Amino acid sequence: MVDWVRLRLDVDGFDDGEFEPYLRRAQGSGIGFTTMAELGDTADHRRALYDLNKMCSADIPDRGEFYTYDAYVAQRIDVPAFDPGGVILAIRDGVWIGMSATSLHADKGVAFSEMTGVLAPYRRQGLSLALKLLAIRFVRSSGYRWLATLHHPRNASAIAMNRRLGFVDQTDVRS
Ligand SMILES: CC(C)(COP(=O)(O)OP(=O)(O)OC[C@H]1O[C@@H](n2cnc3c(N)ncnc32)[C@H](O)[C@@H]1OP(=O)(O)O)[C@@H](O)C(=O)NCCC(=O)NCCS
Repeated sequence: MVDWVRLRLDVDGFDDGEFEPYLRRAQGSGIGFTTMAELGDTADHRRALYDLNKMCSADIPDRGEFYTYDAYVAQRIDVPAFDPGGVILAIRDGVWIGMSATSLHADKGVAFSEMTGVLAPYRRQGLSLALKLLAIRFVRSSGYRWLATLHHPRNASAIAMNRRLGFVDQTDVRS
């Protein structure tokens, strides 16, 4: 049985200023940031999101086979917790190179970080921190205090990334 690592962040206590340099550095290197809401929740953009998510998810330990496109849309997009404003995208030269997707669970009063991923050539440059800064701002502006996430215990990079942002272990938020 997998002993999942459950983390959560109190976005009210998050210090944006500490992570703004990562956003500015990425922007200064020619990376643009936008959301699915700004680009439009269209069929083409859903497919591009699926492709990016699938490519990044290939590096998640024990992820197994990824969703088919139809299953991804049914389980991740066509659900009440999906908000296109919560899909933060990093784009360089027209190519989607990074994402951070957050769902909003009004029934539980919690936001959930579904997937943060950066294409391999762009990793270890602080891009995930820039993406998550924008994701955290989305959570805050949506009126939520808690951002939760769940990781395979061997996903060291993702766990370290979230701890770097101030996520702590939790046991009582969305399973
Ligand atoms: C996890 C992931 C999104 C990190 O993206 P990234 O842009 O390379 O990360 P950053 O450069 O912003 O690093 C942020 C922090 O995360 C940690 N980190 C990132 N990659 C790491 C690695 N390979 N090993 C250890 N720590 C790592 C570090 O603490 C780092 O801060 P530091 O550079 O100041 O030490 C990326 O590795 C990825 O896409 N992995 C595959 C998909 C995945 O597992 N997603 C998470 C599941 S939702």
